[in-house]
Amino acid sequence: MTKSIDLAASVRSIVDYPKPGIIFRDITTLLGDAVAFRQAVDELVRPYTGLGVDKIAGIEARGFILGGALAHQLSAGFIPIRKKGKLPHETVRIAYSLEYGVDEMEMHVDAVKPGEKVILTDDLIATGGTAEGAVKLLRQQGAEIVSACFVIDLPDLGGRRKLEALGVEVRTLMEFEGH
Ligand code: PRP
Ligand code: MG
Repeated sequence: MTKSIDLAASVRSIVDYPKPGIIFRDITTLLGDAVAFRQAVDELVRPYTGLGVDKIAGIEARGFILGGALAHQLSAGFIPIRKKGKLPHETVRIAYSLEYGVDEMEMHVDAVKPGEKVILTDDLIATGGTAEGAVKLLRQQGAEIVSACFVIDLPDLGGRRKLEALGVEVRTLMEFEGH
């Protein structure tokens, strides 16, 4: 077995981006490192092996990168959850709260069948507003949310607790304090 690396060290932190007081946790450095990317995907899928997961739902945009890799590893299908107005077929839509303001996300009406086992993924959970919207949208269409997984958790912003309050198991690979 190859030695594991410290994945948190492969995330780049950019101070005062996109505005003063915020530290942006940039996963492009992790994605660009072949060893780190593989290890992150392996660690994310490990607890789900053998569960018979039907689909991975990835949240635009960075959740698509991880979600495609997870779906491939688990031999599952992939559901893109997109910002409004991007999907060509009939959609279902839900409003969700951002740290400042609201937006809407959509998925195709036939993206999931009732009872299908779905894992939700994104790069990062902060306030949890984005993931909460996705959970509600998927459940409205009858999905069984097996779990939600993220590379990064910002625990001070409370997203994990928000999802757990909805009865969703949350798995993350690392935490960063603060914003
Ligand atoms: C970021 C991040 C998560 C979301 C987390 O995405 O990639 O999707 O915010 O925030 P929350 O837990 O407070 O809802 P962003 O909205 O910046 O869009 P992007 O992925 O398309 O860049
Ligand atoms: Mg995002």
